Amino acid sequence: MTKHFDEAYRILAANDRGGYTVPTDRLYPFQWNWDSAFVAMGFATFDIDRAYRELERLTEGQWADGMIPHIVFHQPSDTYFPGPDVWRTSHTIPTSGITQPPVFGMALRAVHEAAEKAGTENAKARTLALFQAGLKWHRWWYKARDPDGTGLVALLHPWESGSDNSPAWDIALAGVPTTTDTAVVRKDTGHVDAAMRPRDEDYRRFIHLVDTYAVCGWDPVKQWEKTPFKVAEVQTTGILLKAGEDLEHIAKSLGLEAEAQELANYNDLTHKALLAQWRPELSRFVSRDLISGEDIEAPTQAGFIPLLGLDLGGGMVAAAVAEMKLWSNGMKVAFPTTKPFVESWEPKRYWRGPSWAIINWLLIDGLNRNGQPDMAEALRVSTIDAIEAEGFAEYFDPTTGEGCGGLGFSWTAAAYLWLSRKERT
Ligand code: DGY
Repeated sequence: MTKHFDEAYRILAANDRGGYTVPTDRLYPFQWNWDSAFVAMGFATFDIDRAYRELERLTEGQWADGMIPHIVFHQPSDTYFPGPDVWRTSHTIPTSGITQPPVFGMALRAVHEAAEKAGTENAKARTLALFQAGLKWHRWWYKARDPDGTGLVALLHPWESGSDNSPAWDIALAGVPTTTDTAVVRKDTGHVDAAMRPRDEDYRRFIHLVDTYAVCGWDPVKQWEKTPFKVAEVQTTGILLKAGEDLEHIAKSLGLEAEAQELANYNDLTHKALLAQWRPELSRFVSRDLISGEDIEAPTQAGFIPLLGLDLGGGMVAAAVAEMKLWSNGMKVAFPTTKPFVESWEPKRYWRGPSWAIINWLLIDGLNRNGQPDMAEALRVSTIDAIEAEGFAEYFDPTTGEGCGGLGFSWTAAAYLWLSRKERT
């Protein structure tokens, strides 16, 4: 176990484009938001300056209203669709117009703590600047994506979840037309087997949404009114809560009392709202489709991510853990992102079933937080084993362990470094 550090370092170095890391060459040739947050935590295990840099370069894409976009197009590339010409946003450095899960606050705490421990020069000033960016982004989430103050934040595009083609979106996405103003010229299927990627019909809907929001001039209020896709989502909200707690912790450690209180208020609201999304009959949390008003019951990993930010009572934890064990039963690599053997489950197709190291990372943290160290440890070891057996693939087929999607993947390298740090000390 843990023999592959040099390969992980090599991948991060190979994907470095000058202070930021692309997820993998060609398939994803720009800086992606949540990828970079995980990557920063990977860097924090051996190069604190570079870890800060990753987050700093991401904030170069932050909009005036606080949103940190899901892609920052620092340099041109013709190997990816949709590029800046499709997004039609107006930030100085071209960016996409949507966001991604706010892992940033979690990463900042990890980097800050590593810097404190190492006595890194300028750490406080660098943390402070990034903290301000993170706080601005959390304010944006609550204002733009929860205008009714429910405590749950909504996504206006499946890509914002990071789990692009999850079965969680099947019903909500069916309400989005397949017509587009933009020609859909996919590049991803030139890099990776089409059977591992979203379908063409999904892409037409993804781009329909981009066209709709470009017409709104990317104004969050207009988008909220016009969108045919609006989901109050538990994976993103669970991450927001954990990141909010981490930012609150940083605020306290920097003596920023007012900011700490502001974050505590957000966290308290979200804590209650998330708990209300628990469904005892399903033994997991559910998102809500805000267009139809219905719960989203599709069985996906998102239902367990709230453990990351919540301290559940014993009965709830036991039920969630029993359900997670049921899904993992017989799998070569846990944790499947869709419950195995349901109709929508496709073990090789991107977010419709495969196991992802970064999802396991979030689940491991949630299980540890909720007093489940044995299950957390089993998942940690199995994630490391899968990577050592198959390499730093984008994700893994849970039934065979086969590495799938893009190869030489940055966040898989980061997850490997982070999850195996115990063995290295
Ligand atoms: C893609 O293009 O596949 C990305 O996941 C969108 O962010």
